[in-house]
Amino acid sequence: MHEFSVIQMAKKQETDAELANKVINLCQRRGIIVQSCEIYGSHAGFFDYGPLGAQLKRNLENNWWNTFVTGREDVVGVDGAIVSPRALWKASGHLDSFNDPLVECKKCGLRSRADHLVEDELKINVDGLSTAHLQELVHEHKLKCPKCKGELLPIRTFNLMFKTHVGATADEATEVYLRPETAQLIFANYKLVQFVSRKQLPFGIAQIGKAFRNEIAPRNFVFRCREFSQMEIEYFIHPAKLDDCPLLSADLLDTKMVLFTQENQEKKTEPKKISLRDALDKKIIGTRWHAYWLAASHEWLVSLGLNALKLRLRQHTKDELSHYSSETWDVEYEYPWGWKELMGIANRTDFDLKQHSKASGKDLSYHDQATNEKVVPFVIEPSLGVDRLLFTLLMDAYCEKGEGGEAKTLLSLSPKVAPVFVSVFPLMKKDGLAEKARDLFQELKQAGFAAEYDEGGSIGRRYARADEAGTPFAITVDYDSLKDDTVTLRERDSGKQERIGLKDVACALHKKL
Ligand code: GLY
Repeated sequence: MHEFSVIQMAKKQETDAELANKVINLCQRRGIIVQSCEIYGSHAGFFDYGPLGAQLKRNLENNWWNTFVTGREDVVGVDGAIVSPRALWKASGHLDSFNDPLVECKKCGLRSRADHLVEDELKINVDGLSTAHLQELVHEHKLKCPKCKGELLPIRTFNLMFKTHVGATADEATEVYLRPETAQLIFANYKLVQFVSRKQLPFGIAQIGKAFRNEIAPRNFVFRCREFSQMEIEYFIHPAKLDDCPLLSADLLDTKMVLFTQENQEKKTEPKKISLRDALDKKIIGTRWHAYWLAASHEWLVSLGLNALKLRLRQHTKDELSHYSSETWDVEYEYPWGWKELMGIANRTDFDLKQHSKASGKDLSYHDQATNEKVVPFVIEPSLGVDRLLFTLLMDAYCEKGEGGEAKTLLSLSPKVAPVFVSVFPLMKKDGLAEKARDLFQELKQAGFAAEYDEGGSIGRRYARADEAGTPFAITVDYDSLKDDTVTLRERDSGKQERIGLKDVACALHKKL
């Protein structure tokens, strides 16, 4: 088995590091997520999902899609190609600006990400620091190569996009890139999608799909990988109406969230819990539409069962903002390796549409029928990686019941996303119990439940297996079931069992959903 370890956690307690490693072990043991193409050994940063992982990933994607696309009238979905031409990435600015700071050892040639090296060596959080600032830190602290202690060359930039060529000729005309974000396919198709969907501003276009980044040093399992899935919405708004947000209800305005502002970071003060209303009044959050998407995103993450106490919103510092953004907030989670981005919500302004209009020569403006004017919409973009969210949910849900050698692993996943919703067990395989349990299992499958049948090993072992997979409910068919057509319904987290009629099982499970 491939050995992973979560590296560089000195800032956090050992127990946190242990937690991450336990979750990674569980992922491998149960085949939830494994190193890609393990039989040959693949490059770092590529992963394959086994049955439980694939289903969990699909559940997350479906939940997001149902919440933000089919559940709303102002967002439509698209599915763009992964490979796209050089011209797109030149116009978007990624060819010139989608870089990470690279530092190379003069002696052994080891290449590291400069911000990670500084963070690991100095045990400080470097989010928001410019390349110049990182270079100063490298000089000031005389940092050396982490492998051979050799001298480091000056920091330079490294473009994160994977390049290839289409067809048999390799020149600039055939140069293509694997998309590093799904967003650009939305911008490129914006005019068409607006036309065919007949949406008026404000409206959003959503997409779930693969993205690729040639990370200098992928790390922390699927937290930072080279191939991953994104869920992104580009929400288009009239440029003069960024504060005209009817969806920002009084309830949402009163929502309090922990904000770690630019000012906090500059003055090294603590993040504060503050209502969105106050944050808008004090101009901490720039626009009401941005505030709305911060609240909606935070609410959705919490609805998946994530511990809200481990979430905060951190504003990007001026040095850190992406080339397209005027304001970005990350929803950060408190990982074993520190507070880091779980998702980002950026104000991309009219940057992308203007760039693509200029480069393609196509008019991508919007005709506002009410005022008969042409405008280029502004965009608020909630964006997150599915793999990172999935790993975060697993770490958040991981617990152990019992003591020492007796301790049993339990994943307290929300029934909304758990890969298996209900397990069906016959107490014994014999005496007609297996047949009766199988009938119930088939009935639950037909009724649309993600059900699993398991008759292997003692009932205790089967409960433990299901708990470890995060299955919230288990039904056991026993000898009483033969007499009175009742079964036991057991809840994963409490271990509580209740006796219910066989005919009431589907209804009882529906209620649990
Ligand atoms: N589209 C924003 C990102 O990929 O980070």
